[in-house]
Amino acid sequence: MCGIVGYIGEKKAQPILLNCLSKLEYRGYDSCGIALSASGIEVHKDIVRVKALTRALPTLDGMAGIGHTRWATHGEPSKLNAHPQCDCKGRIAVVHNGVINNFQKLRDQLTEEGHNLTSQTDTEVIPHLIEKYYNGDFEKAVGLALSDIEGSYTMIALMADEPRLIAARKDSPLIIGIGDRENYIASDVPALLDYTSRVIYLEDGDVAVVTADTVEVKQNGAGIIREEHKILWSVEDAQKGGYEHFMLKEIHEQPKVIRDTLAEYISAAEPAADLTGDDGSSMDDMLVLACGTSYHAGLIGKYIIEGLVNVPVRVELADEFNYSGHVSARNKAIVITQSGETIDALKSIRKLKEAGCQVIAITNVVGSTASRIVDRTIYTRAGPEISVAATKTFIAQLIALYWLALPYSRVDIGRLDDLVLEIRQLPVKVQQVLDNEAAIADCARQLAGFENVFFIGKGINYPVALEGALKLKEISYIHAEGYAAGELKHGPFALLGDKTPVVAVVAQDNTCEPMVTSIKEIKARKSPVLALVGEENETMEGLADSVITLPQIDPLFSPVVNSVALQLLAYYVARERGCPVDFPRNLAKSVTVE
Ligand code: F6R
Repeated sequence: MCGIVGYIGEKKAQPILLNCLSKLEYRGYDSCGIALSASGIEVHKDIVRVKALTRALPTLDGMAGIGHTRWATHGEPSKLNAHPQCDCKGRIAVVHNGVINNFQKLRDQLTEEGHNLTSQTDTEVIPHLIEKYYNGDFEKAVGLALSDIEGSYTMIALMADEPRLIAARKDSPLIIGIGDRENYIASDVPALLDYTSRVIYLEDGDVAVVTADTVEVKQNGAGIIREEHKILWSVEDAQKGGYEHFMLKEIHEQPKVIRDTLAEYISAAEPAADLTGDDGSSMDDMLVLACGTSYHAGLIGKYIIEGLVNVPVRVELADEFNYSGHVSARNKAIVITQSGETIDALKSIRKLKEAGCQVIAITNVVGSTASRIVDRTIYTRAGPEISVAATKTFIAQLIALYWLALPYSRVDIGRLDDLVLEIRQLPVKVQQVLDNEAAIADCARQLAGFENVFFIGKGINYPVALEGALKLKEISYIHAEGYAAGELKHGPFALLGDKTPVVAVVAQDNTCEPMVTSIKEIKARKSPVLALVGEENETMEGLADSVITLPQIDPLFSPVVNSVALQLLAYYVARERGCPVDFPRNLAKSVTVE
């Protein structure tokens, strides 16, 4: 989704803005641009990558400026629709993230009043409204403009001859980075890592007036103190570190991610969250909501919590829940969102809160919107995830769900001890999967020539099949579908044949035997089968066409090693097909619009 940056200080703004924008590329975008304030406002924008814009630009003056990466919502990707957008005289420039619901009405009014709006964007009304209200007081004009707008408007405004930037946050994140006689603004932490680790997270409704030396935050016109935070992520965390792609680096970071996430939970004085009912007994019903990959983590969470804690768990897609899901104050809910900014997840949190529900968020981003509006936050410690395809944050979510359930486990003490020992072994087991990378890459080469692939699993590995299919389709553009193994014969069998391979996730539990039966049925329809099995499982010998052998592990934790193997599989298929692994077409890292 759109990325926003701003700089004001003693240095030339151009290289800083372009560098910050390059750090936001991972969010997904189709065009980019900057505006600088020197003698007047100078705007440069195009439907190009940030690197190309950087190469195309001459050295520009100006020690204050704003920048934007756009992910089109109103109006196609074009030079005209790219941000910054300006007023009639080109003295006010605005970058914006969000959707202005009443923009057509505002546009018609402004046009009637003589303003000439030239783009198809909703954003363009903002600089024109500021122009309309400007009467010598920039801040007041921005305030009046914002009061006309309905919808979401996280934005920064820059005006010629004004030694300040004015930023506002509504519905998507905005962070002020504090420097020494310079200040920064960005929609996301990675943009600022090269410059500062001191940040202020703005809240919804905040307006910040930022000069080189001061940051003044206001709510409804009144000054308000927002605490300064220290960012714990390092510059290296957001760099490729010698890997060809961020995705590969992030896959390889997973042993450390599991270790860091576990270390934090183990050292905590109390359980991550309270899974008992209001009277201290076990809970009646738990609701888990999420989107995309996080939803798959939620589905695995259902098997973990129901298996260990013995409470019923209902998992729903956040967006569907927002339109139909039933909720009562008796529900406890977990909302899983790595970014903490996904609009559908945030809407579902608000719906849960309105119903009087207690809500726990599992998120990777400190200070994210989700973390501010729930009752309790469980942080995953995955570090910044730059690749659009979620990998390490997904595995960290699983660790959070295991750790959430283990303290309330109803299993006997011997089994519990075994599980705790086993979860601590996960970094080693995941490393063993990574050490088997070359064999997985070989299997990927066999898969890369197909255009349709099924993934199947059963029990706790059914959602692993869903996630394997999602990973493959989003980065390799191969049509892939995840199915519960037993469902395949209820329709999809019609598609089987030698051009439709099936990837089967086989666990060493009571699902193994029916999986073998399903695979035999699939083989009878001539589909090539690639099976993932534990090293002691011999059931695939003479049955599957190829096998990825994985370390032996308790079935409860098998989704972790299986998912890491499927991440590598998707990665190498995408690489083999020459796809832009880290930035798949049409996708954005954090989906902040509906
Ligand atoms: C896929 C992927 C997406 C996200 C989804 C939810 O690789 O990353 O499916 O999982 O957009 O995002 P969060 O977890 O930030 O709410």
